[in-house]
Formats: sequence, C-alpha cells, structure tokens
Amino acid sequence: MSDSSRPLLEARDVSKSVDGPEGRLDILDKVSLQIRPGESFAIVGASGSGKTTLLGLLAGLDTPDSGGVVLDGHALQTLDEEARADLRRRLVGFVFQSFHLLPALTAEENVMLPLELEGASDARSRARDALEAVGLGSRRRHYPAQLSGGEQQRVAIARAFVHRPRVLFADEPTGNLDQRTGHHICDLLFALNHDHHTTLVLVTHDATLAARCDRRIELEEGRVLASSGEAA
Ligand SMILES: Nc1ncnc2c1ncn2[C@@H]1O[C@H](COP(=O)(O)OP(=O)(O)OP(=O)(O)O)[C@@H](O)[C@H]1O
Ligand SMILES: [Mg+2]
Repeated sequence: MSDSSRPLLEARDVSKSVDGPEGRLDILDKVSLQIRPGESFAIVGASGSGKTTLLGLLAGLDTPDSGGVVLDGHALQTLDEEARADLRRRLVGFVFQSFHLLPALTAEENVMLPLELEGASDARSRARDALEAVGLGSRRRHYPAQLSGGEQQRVAIARAFVHRPRVLFADEPTGNLDQRTGHHICDLLFALNHDHHTTLVLVTHDATLAARCDRRIELEEGRVLASSGEAA
C-alpha cells in the first residue's frame, strides 16, 4: 500500500495552544516534518519545548488546533476518535514518558493487550517473547507496583512493539535506565527498525541515541530550531 518514496508520517504546519493560568500558551507553532517508511527520527530539545505534545499529535492521540497530520495516507483530522483509535491499534506502538501500564494487570498481561485487541490467539506466548527480549522474562507475573521504574519502562517498550507496529513512538525510551540497560534497549529498537522496517520516532535527551537516528529535529519553544540528517 505504501511505497518508500511517500512519507509514512507527515505534519503540516501543526500548531497547538492551551489556556493556562497565565493566559494562552503556544505549545507548538507551525511544525512541519516528513518521515519516510523505515526511517529512524529523533526529536530533541529542552524540557518544555513541546516534544511530548508533538509526539501525541503525530500518533493521533491528540488533535492540533490548526495544521494536519497524515499517517500512512490517512489525514487524521478527517477521522473521528474511534477511527483514529482503530488506526493507532493497527499501525502504532507508543511508549509514554510515564509508561501508562495498567496497575491491575501483570507485566505479561499488559504486554498482551495490543495483541488481544487484534484478536491474536497466541498473545501469551508472544508477550513472553517480548518480555524476554527486554530482559524481563523472570518478571512476567509481577504487577507494575512490584517493578522498578526502569523495569516498568521496559514492559512499556515490550507492549509497544509486541504487535509489530509500522511506527513505534517512544518518549524518552532510555530516560530511566542505567547506561547498560539503556544501550540494550537502543539496540532492540534499532533491531526492530532494521529487521522489520519499523519506523522509529523517538523523543530523547540522549545524544548517543539521537545520533544513531537517520534524522533529527530540535524544538525550541514549540518551533523547529534545526534539523539534521539526510535530506527528506
Ligand atoms: N495540557 C496542558 N495544559 C497546559 N500546559 C501544557 C499542557 N501540556 C503541555 N503544556 C505545556 O506545554 C509545554 C510543552 O510541554 P511538553 O510536555 O510537550 O514538553 P516536553 O518538550 O516534552 O518537555 P520534557 O522534556 O520536560 O518532557 C510545557 O511548557 C508544558 O507546561
Ligand atoms: Mg516530554
């Protein structure tokens, strides 16, 4: 359906403002970008520059005030919430900055969720494989509250890739991990990128991780300050 010359993900003049206690706050101001299928793309910038907000808009979790996002040929602003959710289930994996694991489910059950949503019959064994891949095979029966922050993050990463999404969005995927575990998670993300052509869109403060990506943009106060890497 998609070829490698067409962007898999495109943002056109995306803007977002919120009404805060100190009046209107422009979080994103006319951000445009194009990401090709199979590309790895890093979003960097200072705290508060709008990275998480942009990631949420690109993944269809939130809607811009103006401008548009096109994901795999679908203009997200033309879809209602239900249609966007369906598209996310089919195409997208998302690792939140705060993990968002369901507290009443074990690690394994959390990872099984995206597979169960698509009716997979082998959800449990695939969830176990994904937990093994992030080094948590021995923690699969643990609940999120019984896991360390870095372990919860790895469960969230396993949940995001277990259903082989076309695009994996990750907000600070190595932020809470020690150097060695962080390195292992990076290798895992890039293995998905190489082996399965999974497009990676990563928010990161980790310069080494950003440098490993094909392209990077830097946000400053909601604007694209700089971009680098091969030309789009
Ligand atoms: N719902 C909201 N209401 C009010 N202000 C918001 C809201 N969401 C985000 N902001 C503000 O928008 C700005 C950008 O937030 P965002 O979370 O996108 O930043 P970030 O670049 O991800 O930062 P960090 O590196 O700290 O995670 C911040 O100043 C934040 O306070
Ligand atoms: Mg953030």
